[in-house]
Amino acid sequence: MTLTDDTVSLGTNNNVKKTMEKELKIAVIGQGYVGLPLALAFAQHFPVVGFDIKESRVAELQRGIDLTKEVDESQLNVSILTYNNSGGVKGYKPSTSISDIADANVYIITVPTPINQFNAPDLTPLKSSSKLVGTVLKQGDVVIYESTVYPGCTEEECIPVLEETSKLVFNRDFYAGYSPERINPGDKVNTLETIVKVTSGSTPEVADYIDDLYRTIIKAGTHKAPSLKVAEAAKVIENAQRDVNISFVNELALIFDRLGIDTQDVLEAAGTKFNFLKYKPGLVGGHCISVDPYYLAHKAIQVGYYPDVILSGRRVNDEIPVFIASKVVKLMIQKGIDVSRSRVLLLGVAFKENCPDTRNTKVAKIYEELVSYGIEVDVYDPWVNVEEVREEYGIELIKEDKLLNTRYEGVVLTTAHTDFRKLNIENMVSSPAVIYDAKAALDRKIIDSRL
Ligand SMILES: NC(=O)c1ccc[n+]([C@@H]2O[C@H](COP(=O)([O-])OP(=O)(O)OC[C@H]3O[C@@H](n4cnc5c(N)ncnc54)[C@H](O)[C@@H]3O)[C@@H](O)[C@H]2O)c1
Repeated sequence: MTLTDDTVSLGTNNNVKKTMEKELKIAVIGQGYVGLPLALAFAQHFPVVGFDIKESRVAELQRGIDLTKEVDESQLNVSILTYNNSGGVKGYKPSTSISDIADANVYIITVPTPINQFNAPDLTPLKSSSKLVGTVLKQGDVVIYESTVYPGCTEEECIPVLEETSKLVFNRDFYAGYSPERINPGDKVNTLETIVKVTSGSTPEVADYIDDLYRTIIKAGTHKAPSLKVAEAAKVIENAQRDVNISFVNELALIFDRLGIDTQDVLEAAGTKFNFLKYKPGLVGGHCISVDPYYLAHKAIQVGYYPDVILSGRRVNDEIPVFIASKVVKLMIQKGIDVSRSRVLLLGVAFKENCPDTRNTKVAKIYEELVSYGIEVDVYDPWVNVEEVREEYGIELIKEDKLLNTRYEGVVLTTAHTDFRKLNIENMVSSPAVIYDAKAALDRKIIDSRL
């Protein structure tokens, strides 16, 4: 089999062969943290339409603006120009119009996979995007899912929607694949191209085809999994493993706080052993680590196994924001601060450093807890979208001038944005005051305690 820039050809199966020999046009459905970098990477070789239902996102992209800060905006602009100047032979076109993706032959789905209020998978975006693709699906097309799901989800939940909407037959008329995304938002070293990508396909030929397709953009190479289910499981356990590992050190932090020892000191000492795993305690928020374990747990329970380890990890990690808030209040009381008349500053609301992503941020819980003590809480984060935080969490972020003109009785470092390390936190506090470091990123000499 060969895969050149614009055409592909494949042996054996006739339908697959027909498709693969067509000129390749890719539609990436969902242009968020995952979809946009992927679309731009493929756009260097093929014509790519980046489709999203959110009109404001597409309008920004059309103007060459990426509010997720995941891609280089000059690359985005060049890619859009290439598409326009080449008459759609190569390059990138952001769109909300279904007619723009009707002539694609590879569809890659990168929509959100959230959980509902009961921590159960909410497959609404996955199903509605499958329905949308089903309306334009043609003989020989390939649909690849990248969204994080539980093992079996693509074949059990998505393919039936594609079949029903398109009236085509799976693995006869159209094919599918699953290739999980492994990007790490805000990380400019480990990027889409430099992380090995797991691929899979619904037939051996399609698996080869999909693997070849991704190898055109992934410099680090690919790993072809034996089935979609294996590829789905591989992704979800990467995040569940991280969640469980962090929960262990978070549990240690809860224990060592009671014992009056600094968890970081203990981890530093234990970390000198060759096989000690170097995890740090912390707030586990975001769209992946704090959500994906519930997808795996959901499937486990469905097949009759109650995943104690996975779910207890979730429970411990979810306790941390409440622990931090109560620890800060305790320290303030110990210093004789009148908590009900105090002002506390939370530095950072993004769920991780150097990134504007606030999805499932646990800082919102710390905020809520501190407010429940009657504390006046200010939150400062120059990275994030002010309106999004107001709408999602009801938090009105303060501007820099207020930060510079207020003296706080408490400051908590909640997100370790690099810019925050340059702040003179000692100048922001009154006396007495508490400085708490939830990220173990500040100079130890200026803090009262840390996680
Ligand atoms: N963000 C990450 O670091 C990361 C890493 C690996 C995997 N993932 C997984 O990738 C998937 C996407 O995550 P993300 O962070 O890119 O999400 P995101 O919210 O940044 O982007 C998803 C985009 O899909 C759009 N969308 C929603 N429903 C749609 C529909 N029916 N049709 C078309 N577009 C639709 C949204 O408007 C949004 O722009 C999730 O399953 C996530 O778990 C994310």
